[in-house]
Amino acid sequence: MTADAPVPPAPAPRARVLSGMRPTGSLHLGHYHGALKNWVRLQAEYDCYYFVADWHALTTHYEERDVLEKHVYDMVIDWIAAGLDPDRCTIFIQSRLPEHAELFTLLAMGTPLGWLERVPTYKDQMEKLKDRDLATYGFLGYPLLQAADILIYKAAYVPVGEDQASHVELTREVARRFNHLYGRVPGFETRVAAALAKLGRDDARYFDKQRKAFGETGSPDALAKGEAIVRKAAANVAGWSDDDTELLLGHLRGSGKTILPEPQALHTEVLRLPGLDGAKMSKSYGNAVLMRDEPAVVEKKIRGMTTDPARVRRSDPGDPQRCPVWQFHKLYSDDATKDWVVKGCTSAGIGCIECKQPVIDAIVKEQQPWRERAEAYLANPKQVHWVVELGTERARAVAKRTMKDVREAMGLNY
Ligand code: TRP
Ligand code: SF4
Repeated sequence: MTADAPVPPAPAPRARVLSGMRPTGSLHLGHYHGALKNWVRLQAEYDCYYFVADWHALTTHYEERDVLEKHVYDMVIDWIAAGLDPDRCTIFIQSRLPEHAELFTLLAMGTPLGWLERVPTYKDQMEKLKDRDLATYGFLGYPLLQAADILIYKAAYVPVGEDQASHVELTREVARRFNHLYGRVPGFETRVAAALAKLGRDDARYFDKQRKAFGETGSPDALAKGEAIVRKAAANVAGWSDDDTELLLGHLRGSGKTILPEPQALHTEVLRLPGLDGAKMSKSYGNAVLMRDEPAVVEKKIRGMTTDPARVRRSDPGDPQRCPVWQFHKLYSDDATKDWVVKGCTSAGIGCIECKQPVIDAIVKEQQPWRERAEAYLANPKQVHWVVELGTERARAVAKRTMKDVREAMGLNY
């Protein structure tokens, strides 16, 4: 490159992804295929933050202090085993970051009680966990704690299961309200004008057209087009700052400066893996295959798996649709094998033990790299602590910056 060649533009900052998991200890195949596999995939494209939601565990299991620490580190080992790479994503523990609690407290001031009482998981969980006393302040408030977890990293995307959709929706409402209440910073209009000037005349005009259209009709299309202009500027315009982005996104929505951007849920289609008995896979039901189960254990568990109840004898034909083993084939087997299963099962041509063998082989093969990655960490537990330590400090830097903005916006910067 010659000295006067133009400097190539810096790559646009990667959008941030955030997700958390309660520390349940060693994870099972359901966790892997339902969430973790997706987390691993996302780290290649996004700036990913993944954390152990240990305070969340206490919202329902507040008396289980003896197992917490073990559960935390067992889970992190499984994350790394699955392929989360501490050099490419940030792994940390919620309770090490009091900033989450501070934001939770501040958001709580302006959050109507009704918003929390109406979260569908509130009543659901109360029903399901009847055996414990959940008439607590912490349990009611936990979706707001989740909102703080997300907003403190200004996350763009939150990969979660459908069951958590309402929590991300609440997070969006909380952010919108916060920006509305506190987003009108001094000099807002002048600063918007300065940012618009950086856009250039054509884009500024186009942006303004979309802003008006959104204000008048609420058209999501206009909003998307306006946001696209801002994103384009963020990637291409020299001297563009995050502040410019926040000002214009706020201006576009008519809400003032966007201090806490609204996240989007990232629902990925996942195949639900049943447990050994056909019910939902769960450690507490005792029907799970753990990510780090030894091959002999996997073999024993799968061999003992429930099959189509109509196949009492080897000579009875079966129906894969009514057999949980088939769900495993759908996930693990190629077309030829699946064909062999359907034909063999419905004609009583194969036995169930025979049918289960390819599943056993596939799981054992899938586990091989997990076991290898976990080995180093199991041999040297300090290494896991180290990974979490580094991640926690990385997360803290971001959380601190947000809290500075939040305190300033709320008049607490004295
Ligand atoms: N509530 C989530 C669960 O029970 C865990 C969680 C806590 C979370 N904070 C989060 C998930 C923030 C995504 C983002 O599974
Ligand atoms: Fe299930 Fe396979 Fe047995 Fe059919 S042959 S009932 S699919 S285990």
